[in-house]
Amino acid sequence: MPPAATETVASDAANSTAPAPYLNTMPGSDFNWQVTLAKKVVAITGANRGIGLGIAEVCLANSAKMVYSFDLMEPGEDFFTLQKQYPNFRFVQTDVTTEESVEKAINQVVEETGRIDGLVANAGMTKHQPALKFERPELEKLFNLNVFGAYFCAQIAARKFIELGIKGSIVMTSSMTSYRPNRAAPSAPYGATKAAVRNMCHTLAMEWSHHGIRVNSISPGFVRTAMTYYVEKSPDWDIKMQYYGGMPRLADPRELGGAYVYLLSDASSYTTGIDIPIAGIVGAW
Ligand SMILES: NC(=O)c1ccc[n+]([C@@H]2O[C@H](COP(=O)([O-])OP(=O)(O)OC[C@H]3O[C@@H](n4cnc5c(N)ncnc54)[C@H](O)[C@@H]3O)[C@@H](O)[C@H]2O)c1
Repeated sequence: MPPAATETVASDAANSTAPAPYLNTMPGSDFNWQVTLAKKVVAITGANRGIGLGIAEVCLANSAKMVYSFDLMEPGEDFFTLQKQYPNFRFVQTDVTTEESVEKAINQVVEETGRIDGLVANAGMTKHQPALKFERPELEKLFNLNVFGAYFCAQIAARKFIELGIKGSIVMTSSMTSYRPNRAAPSAPYGATKAAVRNMCHTLAMEWSHHGIRVNSISPGFVRTAMTYYVEKSPDWDIKMQYYGGMPRLADPRELGGAYVYLLSDASSYTTGIDIPIAGIVGAW
């Protein structure tokens, strides 16, 4: 089937080697300098629980028009509790490791709301074990979700922003393990995936700045989610925390949300290509 006219324009713009016309992100003279997501439609991958759900809650508390969770698993109790408070929180079943699935989800958002302003590439996984034990399939699984998933989510969202002429914002969830090892739970491949995520944001930000698209990342430290299951199993955790220094506790996922809101909002119109580490200075990272 031949592509629709809009698809042709989008792919021409994305594939062209000619410099794109500069879409300036500078706010107009009537800009409301309040940090807000009013009128913004945001999609967050892996927002049915954990950090993604925390980001969703803070986006909704800061007036986002619609927030979509693109998640592989069916929504659970946590999702529905938040949805009860904010009926403008929706779920689209999505596998971020499949481009067709991501494209379908983004198209559904645009069909339902007429737009998409922000994409948070947050879905990710880890595997904790000594480096000497890792086998290739385990690395492939980690890179497929954490790196390829984030990359294609960003690419597909950017194409849609360009097609719609929207000055979109992309935020990726990296990790403090992109800078330093996690002494509590070793995973060399995971740290490598998160370093890739943080790194790709610089180049994507540079390449897409002419389209008015900003790309940034956030690097959380220890956050209380299913991913930090090992904390509960560690009877000497309090001592470890004292040893690590900094704030002797894990973060609530919502404590990261303000940074995502800022990066998704027009208040950060000149902020692109950066990483914000949010780690309570634990481990003097
Ligand atoms: N928890 C931490 O301490 C911590 C620290 C630094 C970075 N991170 C990063 O934060 C992000 C979220 O982690 P979390 O702790 O909330 O984990 P989590 O396991 O609680 O949540 C991950 C979510 O992603 C979804 N998901 C998994 N595979 C998917 C796929 N193929 N397509 C769509 N969704 C998929 C899961 O269903 C789940 O809802 C991850 O990228 C993780 O690496 C977490």
